Amino acid sequence: MKKADIGLIGLAVMGENLVMNMESKGFTVAVYNRTTEKVDKFINGRAKGKNIIGAHSIEELCANLEKPRKVMMMVKAGQPVDDFIEKIIPYLEEGDIIIDGGNSHFPDTIRRCKYVESKGFLYIGTGVSGGEEGALHGPSMMPGGSPEAWQYVKPIFQAICAKVEDGSPCCDWVGEGGAGHFVKMVHNGIEYGDMQLICEAYHLMRDYLGMTTDEMQEVFAEWNKTELDSYLIEITRDILGYKDEDGKPVVDYILDTAGQKGTGKWTAIAALDEGIPLTLIGEAVFARCLSSMKSERVAASKILTGPKPEFKGDRAAFIADIKNALYAAKIVSYAQGYTLMRAAAKNYGWNLNYGGIALMWRGGCIIRSVFLGEIKKAFDNNPDLANLLLDPYFKNIIENAQDGWRRVCSAAMLNGIPAPAMTSALNYYDGYRCENLPQNLLQAQRDYFGAHTYERTDKPRGEFYHTNWTGEGGDTSASQYLA
Ligand code: 6PG
Repeated sequence: MKKADIGLIGLAVMGENLVMNMESKGFTVAVYNRTTEKVDKFINGRAKGKNIIGAHSIEELCANLEKPRKVMMMVKAGQPVDDFIEKIIPYLEEGDIIIDGGNSHFPDTIRRCKYVESKGFLYIGTGVSGGEEGALHGPSMMPGGSPEAWQYVKPIFQAICAKVEDGSPCCDWVGEGGAGHFVKMVHNGIEYGDMQLICEAYHLMRDYLGMTTDEMQEVFAEWNKTELDSYLIEITRDILGYKDEDGKPVVDYILDTAGQKGTGKWTAIAALDEGIPLTLIGEAVFARCLSSMKSERVAASKILTGPKPEFKGDRAAFIADIKNALYAAKIVSYAQGYTLMRAAAKNYGWNLNYGGIALMWRGGCIIRSVFLGEIKKAFDNNPDLANLLLDPYFKNIIENAQDGWRRVCSAAMLNGIPAPAMTSALNYYDGYRCENLPQNLLQAQRDYFGAHTYERTDKPRGEFYHTNWTGEGGDTSASQYLA
């Protein structure tokens, strides 16, 4: 039998479906799983009669691969990835490639890439998004790592990935080291933000407008025909329409405690590390944390008071406002996500193609949307765009949407309905466009209690001054350093 074009380790949902996808595109795939019964089950089941070779050891897997060998791991992020790398290395030859297709944390990928390269091999850490269906029919893929590896992996990845209408693949080289996994992490953070925004729209419709699930389903169905057209709006429409055996919406039976695997948290931490205000995603992560404190919330709901939501007015008009709030806040979220990528690119020496990243996310992945086509255009028009909000197209949308957005945020606050993502996005927008923020006072406070010094409006930037505010301090100021 012909040797395999690629080997895959880890036959869980994503792994198995990726193998089926690769095989359907004409590639021969060798597979291995730690529990080898899974290999046999797969070979005798879904993989029967296909160009898929089952291996019972990593040695056998590697022996069955064309050179340079490409060994892709679809295993749980963390220690298992390091363990498999150690197990694969003895069976590789110079120039062979190890690929990690899991949701690994990018600093781990930076470390592993250096390590694998030091042994004479090549490494790719790739984001793979789109869940089970995406893995089978075309995921979005975000590969980074050893640049020399890309030419060997490209024909496979670009064959199996999602394509946009004009046939462009939703997969391209992202950059060196951990760039691919960094971009996937930001994708996931944005996914958290998009989901939270949809939940806030739902919350306002349900508890402020008093709408039924069927009515809300119609709204999401309508929105999905507009500029909000996206996978997450589409599945929300379908979820709201899904009935339990008793005919009631399943969503009403689902406990309101969100899970998370940590990629949103990593995005927020990366933003803090880079000093980038990624407020919406941060709020989305915290909203999940707050939701998970169910018993405390139930107890607090009996003790703490607030306004009773009461809507008076034109319901259709307010639904249009919610749509504007969602859309404007979503633009802010992407603007923030892109500024984080820009800061990290500078820090880690990655040459990121921002329009290209929008294209990778345009299809196949969880955040896929029509909207990403516009983001691609914005960065293609101006690759140095500092902030998406400054792009003429998005500036115009926010201008038109902001009255409704402000009404929704005010109504949420006045009626005691939490809308942390929508409101934090508005705060960011107002902060970003504010020429004079109150941090002059903050600098004075820092100088008052700690002689931390300040810059002056009437002097050049970079000159630092200290005032002896109390008349009791000395002339010594604290040293300057920036966190
Ligand atoms: C994707 C998703 C996926 C992620 C899940 C669950 O791009 O296909 O981002 O990678 O693991 O969405 O994430 P949470 O459990 O953190 O919600």
